[in-house]
Amino acid sequence: MSVPILTIDGPSGAGKGTVSRLIAQKLGWHYLDSGAIYRALAIAITEKGLAIDEIDAIVNTAEDMDLVFQCDTKRHITLDGHDITEQLSFESTGNTASKIAAIPEIRAELLQKQQHYKQSPGLVADGRDMGTVVFPEAQYKVFLTASALTRAKRRYKQLKEKGIDANLSEITADIQERDQRDSEREFSPLIPAKGAVYIDSSDMSIDQVVEEMLSLVQ
Ligand code: DC
Repeated sequence: MSVPILTIDGPSGAGKGTVSRLIAQKLGWHYLDSGAIYRALAIAITEKGLAIDEIDAIVNTAEDMDLVFQCDTKRHITLDGHDITEQLSFESTGNTASKIAAIPEIRAELLQKQQHYKQSPGLVADGRDMGTVVFPEAQYKVFLTASALTRAKRRYKQLKEKGIDANLSEITADIQERDQRDSEREFSPLIPAKGAVYIDSSDMSIDQVVEEMLSLVQ
């Protein structure tokens, strides 16, 4: 029997993570946070002191990475036995992840790792190329976006809530720069998959987005 897959692609801050987790919970499906895999690799290479152009060493690091996602009341992610949950959300981690994500050898190495998440009874896959490259066979595809300013404001609020000093115009510029790098890269750029349902969450609540997506699947 084929495993049903819902792919949710879109830029950072569109609400993909929150929405994907809620939908996976409601449907009782598995959840793949592919961005966390790129982010974990970014942490691993930073800890090793590798530069972005040391491609072979980065690919080897990706191959050896022991990444475990645990979900009880809160999400915990460990890399080679160390808890990296907090580090994953750092801006610097996201920026390095976006840079290594532009390198085709690295994307190829991470492809199978992501495809292993396709397991019964179903999968919600969140990322940039879930519907286009990793799971082109998915039955349900969504492209979830929001304006750069809306996404920057959400990020600003999250950082403030964590007590981290933040500057809205810097965050907006950072988001625009990352969007550009992610959408204009040559390999697996961030583009809507063919047939994907386009949702702009700028003026929608999380519940509204979840409802709309659930209505696609149910
Ligand atoms: O979704 P995120 O912000 O956690 O992703 C971090 C970076 O990883 C993002 O800038 C682009 C990259 N990424 C990617 O290229 N392909 C994916 N499927 C997921 C993330």
